[in-house]
Amino acid sequence: GTILVNDQFLDRVNGTVDIEDRGYQFGDGVYEVVRVYGGKMFTAKEHLTRLFESAEKIFLTLPFTLEELTGRLEKLMEDNQLDTGIIYLQVTRGASSRQHHFPDQSSAVLTAYTKEVARPVADMSAGVKAITTPDVRWLRCDIKSLNLLGNLLAKQEAVSKGGFEAILHRDKMVTEGSSSNIFIISDNTMYTHPATNLILNGITRREILKHCAAIGLQVAEKPFTLDELMNAEEVFMASTTAEVMPLTQVNDAQIANGTPGNWTRKLQEAFEEAVE
Ligand code: PDD
Repeated sequence: GTILVNDQFLDRVNGTVDIEDRGYQFGDGVYEVVRVYGGKMFTAKEHLTRLFESAEKIFLTLPFTLEELTGRLEKLMEDNQLDTGIIYLQVTRGASSRQHHFPDQSSAVLTAYTKEVARPVADMSAGVKAITTPDVRWLRCDIKSLNLLGNLLAKQEAVSKGGFEAILHRDKMVTEGSSSNIFIISDNTMYTHPATNLILNGITRREILKHCAAIGLQVAEKPFTLDELMNAEEVFMASTTAEVMPLTQVNDAQIANGTPGNWTRKLQEAFEEAVE
């Protein structure tokens, strides 16, 4: 397939990065995952704006405009004839002799590629299992940074226990998932952690918040406890790839009767309409 390296469209086998690229050595960079439905990027502006915001938060100046980047990603999709899938893109601070502090001179390195990814329809209809685990990450989870070891260790723990996602908590308060945002619904109110430094403000999360009023679901952007999670009427996670994914089991316990809840179904329908 064709990949993007800065402003070059190359065959994947011809794409190379320096072994002293700071992204490779330090995770010194930022990234995005954008959903593509029917050959079109979904919420592209929101994702690419967040990329610029993440970059600014790590004092990385991107050597292209949002419009230039959009154009390159559109060409990348076309070259790969992508219909339903994702675009992965990342920007690192580039190559320099290894040192922790930022180099005086280095040029950011942009790479992007596409991948066909089906919508997870079976899991969305049946619901999946999650586990809970302490959130041991740093205090700038609002930055979509390439440093993901805390997330990876949590996800691996989930997978090793037969789960789909790890729900993270700090002092018994749920923050987010290892690669998703977490929501509970009780008494016709949906709770989700506020968009602070402790979570990534997901684009899917923002999309869901927009649909709640239309379906008559109240919203509280308030942290909730592990106890509230376990006793919730409905629990779901949301992300670019997983969309609105019901969590019907957490650790060894079922959520309510162990099937996706009605409000979750309604949010799935509203989301479905938005992506069509
Ligand atoms: N992950 N929180 C974390 C820690 C995430 O990694 C993600 C997304 C989200 C949801 O964000 P969004 O709705 O914008 O996808 C929340 C992506 C999909 C990933 O790393 O693959």
